[in-house]
Amino acid sequence: MHLYDFAKNLVLEAGNNIRKWMHEDLEIVAKSNPNDLVTNVDKAVETFIVNQIEAQYPNHKIIGEEGHGHHIDSTEGIVWVIDPIDGTLNFIHQRQNFAISVGIFKDGKPYAGFVYDVMRDILYHAKSSHGAYKNETPLPLLPSTQLKESIVGLNPNWLTKPKMGEILQPIIQEARTARAYGSAALEIVYVATGLLDAYVTPRLHPWDYAGGLIILQEVGGKGTNFLGEPLSITHHSTVLIGNAAIHEDIFMRHLQPKAQELQTLQQRFK
Ligand code: IPD
Ligand code: CA
Ligand code: CA
Repeated sequence: MHLYDFAKNLVLEAGNNIRKWMHEDLEIVAKSNPNDLVTNVDKAVETFIVNQIEAQYPNHKIIGEEGHGHHIDSTEGIVWVIDPIDGTLNFIHQRQNFAISVGIFKDGKPYAGFVYDVMRDILYHAKSSHGAYKNETPLPLLPSTQLKESIVGLNPNWLTKPKMGEILQPIIQEARTARAYGSAALEIVYVATGLLDAYVTPRLHPWDYAGGLIILQEVGGKGTNFLGEPLSITHHSTVLIGNAAIHEDIFMRHLQPKAQELQTLQQRFK
């Protein structure tokens, strides 16, 4: 089977598993802090996906949030970047508004992206240079929007952080309004489908954005770090996502002038 079809079927099957497993008692454990939670389902889904890939493609590299390949820093060959459940707090509290995110890269270049909104049964997917889809419907190229007429995705917790909050506040003040959905992968595909115009966040891991980024690029959107550099698939980063026009606008007027301060802050968020 073709790699793209294999990955698509795998993501859909993993989603089926989540819908089955979520009705059993959840085991919830805190990771870095009491609000950074993981469940037995997150772990089981990652194991399921990794086992299937390893059985079919033993030479592929796999980076997964729940413990796979965290030492990997070479992008040579085929690299899968997986978040088994993006939006775990939504999964625990709401049993909805979470996604499986999978990005596949060949020698560091985007090959395919999948973001599966499990409870709505919507698969956003894209193969590089072949366009992006919401289920079977092709996604159109993104229009250009201006910040003052836009909806920006941002987790409001960031506005409470002393220095980063000061950098982000003027962006939100200028925008029409802000929204937070609690799943970076969904927020990125919401930019790719035009529900949001931009998404701004000071710290994400590659598994949060790898799948969404490829879908976004296929509709002409842009994703970089706050310094305008390409997003890494092996290291965490600040993240600015948008249609091409608003990305340029936010970067040039709000972030680039503060590049020095941002360099220092990036170190602090490491
Ligand atoms: C989180 C979600 C959330 C974002 C966090 C991520 P997780 O991923 O994407 O929206 O604000 O930074 O860590 O932990 O639910 O996979
Ligand atoms: Ca995540
Ligand atoms: Ca996760």
